[in-house]
Amino acid sequence: MKVLLVGSGGREHALAWKLAQSPDLTDLHAAPGNPGIAALGRCHPVRAEDGEGLLGLAGELDAGLVVIGPEGPLVAGVADELRHAGFVVFGPGAAAARIEGSKLFAKEVMRAAGVLTAEVLDEPRTPCVIKADGLTAGKGVFICRTEEELQAGLRAAAALGAETVAEELLEGEEISLFALASGTNALPLPAARDYSRVGDGDIGPNTGGMGSFSPVPGLGEHEAAELVDTIHRPVLEELSRRGTPFVGVLYAGLMLTDDGPRVLEFNARFGDPETQVILPRLAGDLLPALAAAGRGELDDVELEAGEESAVTVALTAPDYPLQGDSGTPIEGIEDAEASGALVFHAGTALRDGRLVTNGGRILNVTALGADLADARERAYAAVEKISFAGVRYRTDIAALVGVDG
Ligand code: AMP
Ligand code: GLY
Repeated sequence: MKVLLVGSGGREHALAWKLAQSPDLTDLHAAPGNPGIAALGRCHPVRAEDGEGLLGLAGELDAGLVVIGPEGPLVAGVADELRHAGFVVFGPGAAAARIEGSKLFAKEVMRAAGVLTAEVLDEPRTPCVIKADGLTAGKGVFICRTEEELQAGLRAAAALGAETVAEELLEGEEISLFALASGTNALPLPAARDYSRVGDGDIGPNTGGMGSFSPVPGLGEHEAAELVDTIHRPVLEELSRRGTPFVGVLYAGLMLTDDGPRVLEFNARFGDPETQVILPRLAGDLLPALAAAGRGELDDVELEAGEESAVTVALTAPDYPLQGDSGTPIEGIEDAEASGALVFHAGTALRDGRLVTNGGRILNVTALGADLADARERAYAAVEKISFAGVRYRTDIAALVGVDG
């Protein structure tokens, strides 16, 4: 099967790496891809948001499956355009992707589906969380414990120009739980933890994600399946009932509170960098699973997770998330790979034959190990082998869980 993969980040490199192992794959193409993906398939200079360009490319290639990574094109309806033209697509159409694109819509669907989420407050008050509606790349959420934070949060959310919601502040352990979905069918993937704050000890601003690990101790296959039954399935049924069935990855960001799990958000795609720990742990073949979901035939698919644990550390530009960096030479990737680690490109470019930085999150270093402590040690040993001027990363990814994980 010929596959066209849409996107250019570490998540898409991990998808490309996993798809490239499938005996069903004949050709891998990416739009626009990145230098890491270019080692696995052919990259085409078509932007992920360019629906018309993607339609033309998919036609030229006669793609058997189009896999869309990022939320932008999904919310914009690129999957609809491709599907209408007859392509098999892994990724929801615009109407179903609103579950990520609009927090107000997500709340309404959850209410109708009877899925528990943070309560919406009539009036903002401390403590609470202020959220701007719409796609904000992790920058539209403000945790307000003090009156000062609340005023600043309200101002910042208003500055984003969208409607805002105030909701109760939930406390607990946060996890990411994905299910491959097709209409009302759902196939749970292993749970993962993401680190969204920029600094060690979870301080500083929110980012796209500074690292991740999987499995989450205490949340094995059985527990994940139970959560998918009570959270993902009712939402998928509600979306189908509305005539907008969801095809793709339904990603639930959950807070495990003392009162039970609560949904923080839904996303309509694979998480980044959770995908970089989940896919390396999967023993099964991803390509037939994505193709089956795209065709609406997910019922009989199984995807087993292996025994190993995985840890990913994001290497970022010095001023990320404020700003990225470009043109700084990167060294040491081969050494890191020789140690057994996987190095996924997230924001890199080739200039005059040289690999350089090109973004905020530059590389994701993933290692597998017998347990989380082992995977963590291997991941950081590989991180040390890579260098570029100003490189920054968290040193506490999977640190506390590794002991008994
Ligand atoms: P979201 O984009 O809605 O997932 O929010 C981004 C991050 O803000 C989440 O990953 C949580 O860490 C935090 N967050 C969002 N909503 C809440 C909430 N109701 N209570 C506590 N933390 C929250
Ligand atoms: N890791 C957070 C996200 O993908 O939205």
